[in-house]
Amino acid sequence: MCGIVGYIGDKRAAPILINGIKRLEYRGYDSSGISIIENDTIHCERSVGFISELEKKVDGQFNDGTVGIVHTRWATHGAPTIENAHPHLDCTGKISVVHNGIIENHNYLRARLENAGHSFKSETDTEVVAHLIESYFDGALEDAVRLALKDIEGAYGLAIICLDDPGKLIAARRGSPLIIGIGEGEHYVTSDVAATLEYTKEVVYLDDNEIAILTKDTMKTVDVDNVEITKRVDEVEWNLDRIEKGGYEHFMLKEIYEQPQSLEAAMLGRFEKNSDLVHLGGLKDKEDDLLNVRRIIIVACGTSWNAGLIGEYMIEEHLCIPVEVEYASEFRYRDPIIDDDTMVIAISQSGETADTLAAIQEAKEKGAMILSICNVVGSSIARVADCGMFLHAGPEIGVASTKAFTSQIAVLALLTLFMAKIKGREEVLNSDLANGLKEIPEQVQKILDNKDKITEIAQLYKDSENCLYLGRGYNYPVALEGALKLKEISYIHAEGYPAAEMKHGPIALIDKNMPVVVVATTDRVYSKILSNIEEVRARGGKVIAIASEQNAEIADLVDHVFYIPEIIDALVPILSVIPLQLFAYQMAVMRGCNVDKPRNLAKSVTVE
Ligand code: AGP
Repeated sequence: MCGIVGYIGDKRAAPILINGIKRLEYRGYDSSGISIIENDTIHCERSVGFISELEKKVDGQFNDGTVGIVHTRWATHGAPTIENAHPHLDCTGKISVVHNGIIENHNYLRARLENAGHSFKSETDTEVVAHLIESYFDGALEDAVRLALKDIEGAYGLAIICLDDPGKLIAARRGSPLIIGIGEGEHYVTSDVAATLEYTKEVVYLDDNEIAILTKDTMKTVDVDNVEITKRVDEVEWNLDRIEKGGYEHFMLKEIYEQPQSLEAAMLGRFEKNSDLVHLGGLKDKEDDLLNVRRIIIVACGTSWNAGLIGEYMIEEHLCIPVEVEYASEFRYRDPIIDDDTMVIAISQSGETADTLAAIQEAKEKGAMILSICNVVGSSIARVADCGMFLHAGPEIGVASTKAFTSQIAVLALLTLFMAKIKGREEVLNSDLANGLKEIPEQVQKILDNKDKITEIAQLYKDSENCLYLGRGYNYPVALEGALKLKEISYIHAEGYPAAEMKHGPIALIDKNMPVVVVATTDRVYSKILSNIEEVRARGGKVIAIASEQNAEIADLVDHVFYIPEIIDALVPILSVIPLQLFAYQMAVMRGCNVDKPRNLAKSVTVE
């Protein structure tokens, strides 16, 4: 979604800002803009569409400006037009603001400011911030920003510069991530560390209701009442090569191929030496609390929700604790029942999804312990949770989540094993769950080595208009995830269903033009899913099966079969989803779609 980069130092700001904001292209946007202070003016350029358009406008300009801000916008209030693109300026053109989030009381503030004589140029909620700051400005930008923030309701990550106080860059956060990068005689502001990783790895994560006042040499953090806050400096662990394509045509393909390594990384250091016992640093002080958990609610969105559903099956099967999986967006508004024995697990790759963050807040207010499963270290969800585990999958840039999904399942399995240890559930500790996990990276590699078969199948179905995905048990969430992948990057209408539900409605859709992907591994519901395959075949549907190797009989029952290695039921999704990721990827490429940046989608959905 929207991206922010700001710079103050001695270097030319324009190339740093353009470079940085390009690193955030993957998050999804529809317009962009930049402000640079140079020759006693704030210069502002904006464009619609790709950042390359903005780059053309900036090319050859701003050779001296060393202070500036840049933004990519994903439209919420007002269409993606030049006028609505950020930065937004006040009436005097001296205050420039970029903003992520939503100012909820913008209508009221706009009316108030217009009555006081301010004139607006855009339809955005953001522009009120520039005018509000103008209304309070009395020489010191930080004081005006503080007063303005007191009037604002809603969520913001803001970066602000001002011609009448030109040696400062102000950053403010509430509900939308902002990070300060610290260089030698320079500071950066960004909504995502990927933007500034090439310049510095030393960062400060701003928390909600904090304002950073940056000059090139100093950084001070205060709250809206000007009370100073001491912040810790962290070091980012990722290297630049982790956020580059490394020879792959798309980030999504690179990330699919990284799965043997990302799964290894999820387990690294988490098994006790020469043992199947799991040790989780992020939960070590919470053993007593975990022992007392009687009910679990998993909150998440999209792919992370699908992983949560697998978590439900896994935890209920192995720990006998009842689990509910909730869409975070629904959970937050429905007054959920939470008691002292309830633990909430929030799953989020980005750790910034607004609905998931709000669901956590709701659960926290009701007294639940929050355990987060995130990929991005330092992300908002990871920091507000009481305890948690990271995926360590490395940055996921492709909008369609792939490696995060498989790592989420692996981490849920580790959590299951950890809780089994605490609860003394010997039968789980002696089961194949731990061994299965250890073998999985190699098995994933085996599937990837066989990818040409998927390309052949994709070639046959690339012009389809619809596609149905069926699965049962642990493979039902895989069917959902396969359908989600296909629809988001190829724009083919796809539905995931529990296979037995098909006869209660979707069966009406089956004809010779309907490809049906059936995840039919040899698990405890295999014989049942064979009947579902027959039902599709009887109506002329084309069946593409994902089956366990050694299963020769299925080849005669379906049109195409892709084999995956055998593994225990609970871990099958990690393997069975890989061909579905490859299938969606190949279909999208063959249809000429923009795989890494599908239309209308954002990598990290930081608005409601
Ligand atoms: C996945 O391919 C999607 N782009 C999307 O559903 C995503 O999983 C969802 O927005 C949740 O994101 P999160 O994991 O960062 O919270």
